[in-house]
Amino acid sequence: MRTQVAIIGAGPAGLLLGQLLHKNGIDNVIVERHTGEYVLGRVRAGVIEQVTMDLLDEAGVGERMHRDGLIHDGVQICVDGKRHHLSFKELTGKSVMVYGQTEITKDLMDGRAAVGAPTLYAAYDVALHDIHGGKPRVTFRKDGSTHEIECDFIAGCDGFHGISRKSVPPSAISNYERVYPLGWLGILSETPPVSEELIYVRHPRGFALCSMRSPTRSRYYIQCSLADDIESWPDERFWEELRPRLDDEAREALVTGPSIEKSIAPLRSFVAEPMRFGRLFLAGDAAHIVPPTGAKGLNLAASDVQYLARGLIEHYRDKSDSGLEHYSERALLRVWKAERFSWWMTTMLHRISDNPFDYQLQLADLDYLFRSKAAATAFAENYVGLPY
Ligand code: FAD
Ligand code: DHB
Repeated sequence: MRTQVAIIGAGPAGLLLGQLLHKNGIDNVIVERHTGEYVLGRVRAGVIEQVTMDLLDEAGVGERMHRDGLIHDGVQICVDGKRHHLSFKELTGKSVMVYGQTEITKDLMDGRAAVGAPTLYAAYDVALHDIHGGKPRVTFRKDGSTHEIECDFIAGCDGFHGISRKSVPPSAISNYERVYPLGWLGILSETPPVSEELIYVRHPRGFALCSMRSPTRSRYYIQCSLADDIESWPDERFWEELRPRLDDEAREALVTGPSIEKSIAPLRSFVAEPMRFGRLFLAGDAAHIVPPTGAKGLNLAASDVQYLARGLIEHYRDKSDSGLEHYSERALLRVWKAERFSWWMTTMLHRISDNPFDYQLQLADLDYLFRSKAAATAFAENYVGLPY
């Protein structure tokens, strides 16, 4: 098989890149380790920035998002039972949208199926070859036989645990990492949300987040221990732990019900530099991870894809490699700002240590955020994705 761009991974980064390239007449094949149903079953991101909305529109798959997505002009932060409101609209003129990653993935999969572009699901033992030579190749096993794709470029969009980043010799890559001693336990339930806006909660028992997917479907997260497993968290225990972390109004509004999904995500900050190795380009979680607190992971994946798609389009259409040459540097400028913001929100809102000094610092940080227009504006700009 031969294609122009071989894309590894059919998560949001790979699917979005595939769609943008296809729109611009660039041939691509996506190779994905899991089945389509498995990929669609992963409940993750909920908040998307304008840049992500614009790209989904550009890819021609934004219709359902505009119909079903919820525009959020601000967010609430609850500190030890008292709620504070931050208006993105007033502070920055911008908003974000609440629209689930599952829906985005479905829209991109449907868009890809509609144009007949190939995605090879359940492809095992994916391996990358000759990324520094003129003719890179991807090999994999599928349906009992071995296959090979020859291509001009490889886009590694295969997430944090993927093979692309691992195919690079360790001496060519610098990894920066911080692992947090906590996880997020999330549940999805067919119950109305406690508030029209998201509530980020800082509480002595630990962080909580009240989010949503629609006016009748809620998404909640609570800080949990990394040693916890799902079996030790029956639904009743989850609701019992969430309730005391909320303020009185939210507690009264809380409607509980059976979970329709439940998962634990570890919290990690990670950046691999550079994001290009010869003819291999990394994009999204394959190159960097943020703790979910700042709602940045999917948005960063989308912005990488924007730079990479532009670079590849320039290569084929204008015979210029300038965009590809600057890809890594451009993407990383944005990545590190999102890393800083996500780290800051995480350390400000979670119970990370038992040292009362750290607790007092958090309160000072939060008090400054609520009192200073400059601090609130900086928060809002980062949350909506403006300063990039
Ligand atoms: P992935 O979604 O991980 O996709 C990678 C794909 O590659 C997968 O389908 C995988 O199966 C495939 N793959 C892996 N290895 C191989 C291989 N060897 N061969 C072939 N295929 C392979 N982000 C936000 O912007 N906003 C939010 O509100 C937000 N909330 C989050 C909440 C939680 C609880 C979590 C866990 C994450 C959240 N994120 C959020 C982050 C977001 O989900 C990720 O950043 C996003 O999924 C990254 O997309 P991706 O395509 O780069 O990687
Ligand atoms: C959601 C996830 C996040 O990580 C976040 O910061 C806000 C919302 C969500 O799943 O709804």
